[in-house]
Amino acid sequence: MADTENHARLRKAMSPAFSPRALASQEPILQHNVELYLNKLQDHATNGLQLDLRLWYNYVTLDMIGDLAFGESFGCLDSSGFHAWAQFVTVVNFSHWSADFLPERWLEEDPQFATDVKEAFQPFSVGPQSCVGKKFAYDSMNIILARTLWRFDMKLESACKEKYSQPQVPYVSIH
Ligand code: HEM
Repeated sequence: MADTENHARLRKAMSPAFSPRALASQEPILQHNVELYLNKLQDHATNGLQLDLRLWYNYVTLDMIGDLAFGESFGCLDSSGFHAWAQFVTVVNFSHWSADFLPERWLEEDPQFATDVKEAFQPFSVGPQSCVGKKFAYDSMNIILARTLWRFDMKLESACKEKYSQPQVPYVSIH
């Protein structure tokens, strides 16, 4: 990890790549990957298959990052699977987040979460080392979700109708 001085220098060098103008200029790369993702889902929908959408959200976001950071997609969407390197990154960095995924925390219906201080939830952190990719992340999530809902009707499979916090298979079918 960089010391404070080098961190500030590196962050300053990186920041222009995350400005609203830079992000707008990269939108075609995002849209291209989202188009590929939608077409892949369409193929599966046509075949009547159930899907684990978590995988597909990972594929499209990883391919976007590959395109933007390395000038080359990881090819997760093309192969409908994780690139070996992408799988490594996912396992190391993200698996502990999904274990704590409790969406009902935010629905304000379940009393067990009533005393949660929701404002303390800062997934992008705060301060001088906070996430520089926050706007990019929100832009990508908004585009992916909006275009998914625009294109498809989705149905949660009956096996997933338990409370979110129960072990479940998060499969949907799309129509
Ligand atoms: C939902 C998606 C994301 C979440 C929740 C997230 C969260 C975070 C958090 C918590 C940190 C601070 C880590 C620390 O304190 O050491 C961070 C740093 C960082 N993130 Fe993200 N991030 C996300 C997406 C992205 C994306 C899409 C990019 C780039 C395209 C990105 C680039 C970075 C960079 C470069 C840093 C280091 C910033 C610095 O050290 O000054 N992040 N992220």
